[in-house]
Amino acid sequence: MGVAVSTVWESDEERRELAESESERLVSADFTEDDLEIDRNLRPRQLDEYLGQTRVKENLGVLIEAARGRDEALDHILLSGPPGLGKTTLAHVIANELGVAIKTTSGPAIERAGDLAAILTNLDARDVLFIDEIHRLNRAVEEVLYPAMEDFAIDIVIGQGPAARSLRLDLPRFTLVGATTRTGLLTGPLRDRFGMAFRLDYYSAEELASIVGRSSEILKVPITEEGTREIARRSRGTPRLANRLLKRVRDYAQVRHDGNVSEDIAAEALAFFQVDHVGLDKMDVAILETLIHKFSGRPVGLNTLAAAVGEEPDTLEDVYEPFLLQLGFLARTPKGRQATPRAYEHLGLQSPGEASRQEGLF
Ligand SMILES: Nc1ncnc2c1ncn2[C@@H]1O[C@H](COP(=O)(O)OP(=O)(O)O)[C@@H](O)[C@H]1O
Ligand SMILES: [Mg+2]
Repeated sequence: MGVAVSTVWESDEERRELAESESERLVSADFTEDDLEIDRNLRPRQLDEYLGQTRVKENLGVLIEAARGRDEALDHILLSGPPGLGKTTLAHVIANELGVAIKTTSGPAIERAGDLAAILTNLDARDVLFIDEIHRLNRAVEEVLYPAMEDFAIDIVIGQGPAARSLRLDLPRFTLVGATTRTGLLTGPLRDRFGMAFRLDYYSAEELASIVGRSSEILKVPITEEGTREIARRSRGTPRLANRLLKRVRDYAQVRHDGNVSEDIAAEALAFFQVDHVGLDKMDVAILETLIHKFSGRPVGLNTLAAAVGEEPDTLEDVYEPFLLQLGFLARTPKGRQATPRAYEHLGLQSPGEASRQEGLF
């Protein structure tokens, strides 16, 4: 087939380049230079180190034990949820718990059907193949994946024109772990071929506090329990952000104070980095203020809103909106996005409903 597999794997190098082109943003969806270092040190390797997501963990624990007991490959698993909730981490944990190798790639990295064929034929029995952003596979590649997932075989066409012949090639039984930010983006046939689908949800403040506690121990940051809770509260339910904020707070405490992190110092540091007490950053506030001021509280379409705040529509939809929706600051109406009365309240503004009530219009 003559496809260089090495071009398909994402190396740390490539990820670093990507990270460098990203601006220094706390809430960004993608890896930053910091994350690469944080990831290596802080990423849990075993199921019992993977905090929170109890239901997902319990289910997976049973499936893994059963597969291991029978010496079989685990069923294909689909992981979905907003960025930074632990999909990639969980894929590695799964492989680790199964005691097998993991090969990782991503939807956009696999350009041609031949690329995927090369990857698949290089797997060993029971290996985990992790495809990140699996919703971004192109059509031709996806079609190779169907028989691979279902029958552990691929069909290769040899030759061209009337002389072309199709050859079926058997693959080892492997486990595909796919990750996506939104299951709605997957085609039906692909979704149907996963044995199990797990949705990762935002973490509770309690769970995030444990994650911050664990990370502080690994990074040797002297922090009080209240300090971990203060960071947890402002981490928008997201472990990646919790770890990122911990690092910023550590730097701040070291430069401005004596290095110890208390609740007050954590709060002071996070205010300094413009993360407010519910975890909104500059972009969240810009989104809400744009809806309120620029569009006078009227419903606004996604693309219009994205253009107005200078952000990609996808990022708005994957990263910012889910959290604003969860806080009840944003409403998605058939006519578009709208700030809720709660958002007005949070920003210290009077909502239109409130104003007209006071004017006696209601
Ligand atoms: N359940 C968890 N327990 C502890 N740390 C976690 C957990 N989930 C994620 N993390 C941390 O958050 C970081 C981001 O997770 P990652 O798996 O890269 O998210 P995703 O792939 O969903 O974007 C990881 O490097 C890890 O340190
Ligand atoms: Mg990931």
